[in-house]
Amino acid sequence: MPLSHRSTLTQFLIEERRRFPGASGDFNSLILDAALACKAIARVVAFGELSGMLGNHGTDMNGNGGSVNVQGETQKKLDVLSNDVFIRRNEWSGLLGGMASEEMDGPYQIPAKYPRGKYLLVFDPLDGSSNIDVNMSVGSIFSILRAPQEMADSGRDAIEADFLQPGTQQVAAGYALYGPTTMLMLTVGNGVNGFTLDPNMGEFMLTHPQIRIPADTEEFAINASNSRFWEAPVKRYVDECLAGKTGARGKDFNMRWIASMVAEAHRILMRGGVFLYPRDTKDPTKPGRLRLLYEANPIGFIMEQAGGRASTGRQPVMAVQPASLHQRIGFVFGSKNEVERIERYHTEPAPRAIDNPLFAERSLFRD
Ligand code: AHG
Ligand code: MN
Ligand code: MN
Repeated sequence: MPLSHRSTLTQFLIEERRRFPGASGDFNSLILDAALACKAIARVVAFGELSGMLGNHGTDMNGNGGSVNVQGETQKKLDVLSNDVFIRRNEWSGLLGGMASEEMDGPYQIPAKYPRGKYLLVFDPLDGSSNIDVNMSVGSIFSILRAPQEMADSGRDAIEADFLQPGTQQVAAGYALYGPTTMLMLTVGNGVNGFTLDPNMGEFMLTHPQIRIPADTEEFAINASNSRFWEAPVKRYVDECLAGKTGARGKDFNMRWIASMVAEAHRILMRGGVFLYPRDTKDPTKPGRLRLLYEANPIGFIMEQAGGRASTGRQPVMAVQPASLHQRIGFVFGSKNEVERIERYHTEPAPRAIDNPLFAERSLFRD
């Protein structure tokens, strides 16, 4: 399709809004502000080393020291910069009652010089940030919630409890991927639409309308270095994938691991697949690696809106009532049939040492 025939993100949002005559349009400008933040971050990321923004935040001349976020993770300079970009691009609009992010301990209050609004913005300003220094894909993830009515009416400060809403309450979610091309994937609860950044015009153009994830796949993504900590259902699932044609699945699988969830989510959105960062026994204080509010819920919303599925392994991830802002959770998402299979393995009793006569109760290979 010629470039001139494609919708911009702005055109797309306005045309969508026309279908709901009562809508105020406030919401559109909120999404455009988030998209602008993503464009600004994309520019810095694209300059790599030349930006002077690679490496850890807060280190001295010898590279010692460095700041750590509330979750005990070393902050990259770009984590902190991206967080600031999101705040500056969104705080002024009068549409937000507060923000929360991976890089801030508690809620961010809208400064007194700006009006306060009825939405809450939650974000991971830079996902996969261990990949920045090696020029691999990173991205930003965001989720929009309604502020509690009483908060919006009173204009009071946002508190942690205001953000603790299950993912089913999200009104929009999106992510930007800063890969070979910058893309923005967006849902407002009516399917998922994908936009590609035209760097000449600085506009996101609609290139991937109404994305659907294939229900079946032969591709899985998991950090296999954690395998000794996996729970039995996950171990069973991965073992069966690895057994390929010779095992229970009767087909070969391929494996991927980028260590940038936003990039894995994008691959899955484009061609199917399944991603697992399950709950494991590695660190009993952490019930999973990924964060519920600004990683799992927005990606889960996008997956489900594209016909995929998003789960903790035990229940739909968006059904989970959050208990804290930075809560971690086991997260499995992607092609529907595959995620359902993993959920089933979590409810079924473990299969007896394989129905293989060689490994049966009394066999050659048993004591
Ligand atoms: P973040 O960079 O926002 O802290 O998130 C990184 C996450 C996620 O993107 C990725 O899937 C996972 O951490 C990688 O973890 P491992 O290093 O354990 O593979
Ligand atoms: Mn992240
Ligand atoms: Mn991050």
